Amino acid sequence: MSAKIIDGKAVAASIRSDIKQAIDARKAEGLRAPGLAVILVGNDPASQVYVNHKRKACEEVGIISTVLTPEADIEQHELLELVDRFNADPDVDGILVQLPLPEHINESTVTERIRPDKDVDGFHPYNIGRLAQKRPELRPCTPYGVMKLLESTGITTRGARAVIVGASNIVGRPMALELLYADATITVCNSKTQDLPGVISQADIVVVAVGRRHFVKGEWIKPGAVVIDVGMHRGEDGKLSGDVEFEAAAERAGWITPVPGGVGPMTVAMLMQNTLEACQLHNEPPLD
Ligand code: GUN
Repeated sequence: MSAKIIDGKAVAASIRSDIKQAIDARKAEGLRAPGLAVILVGNDPASQVYVNHKRKACEEVGIISTVLTPEADIEQHELLELVDRFNADPDVDGILVQLPLPEHINESTVTERIRPDKDVDGFHPYNIGRLAQKRPELRPCTPYGVMKLLESTGITTRGARAVIVGASNIVGRPMALELLYADATITVCNSKTQDLPGVISQADIVVVAVGRRHFVKGEWIKPGAVVIDVGMHRGEDGKLSGDVEFEAAAERAGWITPVPGGVGPMTVAMLMQNTLEACQLHNEPPLD
């Protein structure tokens, strides 16, 4: 293997440690701790695991978390009422509704109900629009975390050719906006893209978020490229793997994220960061 490993676990731990320090300093000044409200609808096992990670991280850094777990058959208007309750609660700085939601609930309606200044997922059109206009406020956690991982390698994004594989609202699209904000040259691929291997082989930076195990082959990677794998799949043997053929890609890449221990811990760390930033915003509103 020639690639260096991007240790997301270590970068995330360092970010959480900085957040803990900032929260301790707030409390020492007599300011309140940040508050995060999480709504988890139904009992999807993967979502339960993710929410548990978020709750534990809150505890570690000193964020006060509240987790509500309504049944899967909750009516949309009842869910919106829960969001309204947290929107109005002065002790709640951040609100997160875990996705996916049951079929009968419209995800956009719920996401757009969250006050933009409490939207710590960064999914509200206001926050996506701010990022699109180079004036980010609360930034989508996974792409924001990927930018921190790229920063940790010391490679420059300015002028780099970045290829994003996957165009979802949660990862691919905001990832493109983040990389554009960092002055990279962006290509976003979707299921209709022609000659995907050819496009990927041009990339200095490849971010893969397609949700298909080992979808990107090692031989497609340009020698020396940075490979960021957002995928996470559990095999029948219980082992986790990503959207990229790790071993083969690591033979060619300059840097690569492992799965697990790459992007995953960063998503949670950036959620903590956003909750702290939202809290600071609520205490010290910006002048503009
Ligand atoms: N489901 C998968 N990833 C996420 C995320 O980052 N936030 C929320 N709210 N739901 C998710």
